[in-house]
Amino acid sequence: GVERTLVLIKPDAVRRGLVGDILARWERKGLTIEAMTLRTMSAELADQHYADHVDRAFYPPLKEFMTSAPLVALVIAGDQAISVVRGMIGATDGRAAAAGTIRGDLSLSNRENLVHASDSAASAAREVTLWFPELT
Ligand code: CMP
Repeated sequence: GVERTLVLIKPDAVRRGLVGDILARWERKGLTIEAMTLRTMSAELADQHYADHVDRAFYPPLKEFMTSAPLVALVIAGDQAISVVRGMIGATDGRAAAAGTIRGDLSLSNRENLVHASDSAASAAREVTLWFPELT
């Protein structure tokens, strides 16, 4: 069925001029952009968005990176959008991600991996509310 997922095009992708390339992949797939905004993530929003990761060793540099410059936040909708978008993004570590995926084609990093997408229906509901409260 039709699902909504929360996607972030991270500061590394904006800085590298890859926003258009990345958006085009989802558009060509047939997914729908329901909301989109360019903004800089606050420290408070980072702690909320990454609530499951705040105690991890990788979190302080991740937070520094994610709050360092503007990112593009969007809501994407479509049939099985949560798993379809995750599949198109590829594995977390760009060095391990399969060719043909966004990270596999465009990232060589475990942290600066260009995109985030909700990993489950529960995460999607929570993250869409966090970023786009007007949609809920
Ligand atoms: P994301 O999908 O946004 O979810 C958590 C983020 O933490 C992940 O993408 C990476 O940017 C980052 N991350 C996850 N694991 C590591 C790691 N081992 N080292 C550095 N960054 C990581």
